Amino acid sequence: MAQPIYVLNGPNLNLIGTREPELYGRHTLADIEQAVAARAKSHGLESVFRQSNQEGILVNWVQEARDNAMGLILNAGAYAHTSIALMDACRALAKPVVEVHLSNIFRREHFRRRTTISEACHGVIVGFGAQGYLLAVDALAAMAKELQK
Ligand code: DQA
Repeated sequence: MAQPIYVLNGPNLNLIGTREPELYGRHTLADIEQAVAARAKSHGLESVFRQSNQEGILVNWVQEARDNAMGLILNAGAYAHTSIALMDACRALAKPVVEVHLSNIFRREHFRRRTTISEACHGVIVGFGAQGYLLAVDALAAMAKELQK
């Protein structure tokens, strides 16, 4: 059995569904977790889905993914814009990382246009709401398939 996809979510993402729905949509994180699991299953993969408001916990989970995951989907929330620790952890991962943001961070406040972690990621998906997570699952599954050839 292939290793699972790790899906890690940062601060305040536990509130989506009710938090600024005009920006983040009406899906809850539990809805997204379910949809991700189903999409991963359709590729013959499993997913591990977690959320924390704490930077160090997220770093620990990225480190855990070094041994336990086939790839990582990371919506680091506001830490995406600030966290060198998360960027370093992603660099050390040596597995593909897809950065996801529900909202299109490039059409919002200026300070959101820069993300610290992007340079450590294979790709970035922004602005497609919950769908972005599913696109990221598809991308990791396609990369894994390529590697098997
Ligand atoms: C976000 C975008 C971030 O700028 C913001 O701090 C979030 C959510 C998104 O998914 O659109 O918490 O990561």
